[in-house]
Amino acid sequence: MTTQDSRNPLTVAVIVGSVRQPRIGRLVADWFTDRATRRTDVRVDLVDLAEVALPLADTPPGGNPDSPIADRLAAADGFVVVTPEYNHSFPAALKNAIDWHHREWAAKPVAFVSYGAGSGGIRAVEQLRLVFAELHAATIRTGVVLTAPWERLDQQGRLVDDGPLGKAADATLDELAWWGEALRTARRNRPYGS
Ligand SMILES: Cc1cc2nc3c(=O)[nH]c(=O)nc-3n(C[C@H](O)[C@H](O)[C@H](O)COP(=O)(O)O)c2cc1C
Repeated sequence: MTTQDSRNPLTVAVIVGSVRQPRIGRLVADWFTDRATRRTDVRVDLVDLAEVALPLADTPPGGNPDSPIADRLAAADGFVVVTPEYNHSFPAALKNAIDWHHREWAAKPVAFVSYGAGSGGIRAVEQLRLVFAELHAATIRTGVVLTAPWERLDQQGRLVDDGPLGKAADATLDELAWWGEALRTARRNRPYGS
């Protein structure tokens, strides 16, 4: 379903939250991005944190104006955070990237694609909701939960997109697009925090 005017697509930043090597996170993000690019109502910007230098020592309160990805995050109308679960939480690199920024997140929707061994990463997502609330972002209910995605790879190493998984991705994008359009209009009518 495409609910948004295709002449005015929403910009969605898909953020790859795991940076270790090797990792499965980029494969998961590539699958989701491929799914999203079939739509006409969103335009995807894939932000792979493994490709961005965000030193741990440079996180002032309120965000760092020297961020190499601030412009890309600011241009986004919504976010999809692709996160694994590490020790019942989310990766340190992802927290660092969140902390590097501030106003870039505000008054925008955030969806989650999570994965992990047993729980599909849901504990990481529940904790991320608390963090994004502090940043005035609106986390959405619907998301993709992937249990043991490494068992879903085909011979080319791509994630096998069965029926339920594809439906979960589409439902997530539908909801993100609704919130993205609503909040984009709201921000234009009245800049957030004014
Ligand atoms: C430091 C670390 C802690 C982990 N803790 C959990 C965990 O608490 N729950 C879980 O389901 N999987 C856990 N795992 C397994 C990960 O889900 C699995 O390694 C996954 O591939 C990690 O994503 P990545 O490859 O994109 O980094 C952990 C993995 C690592 C590296």
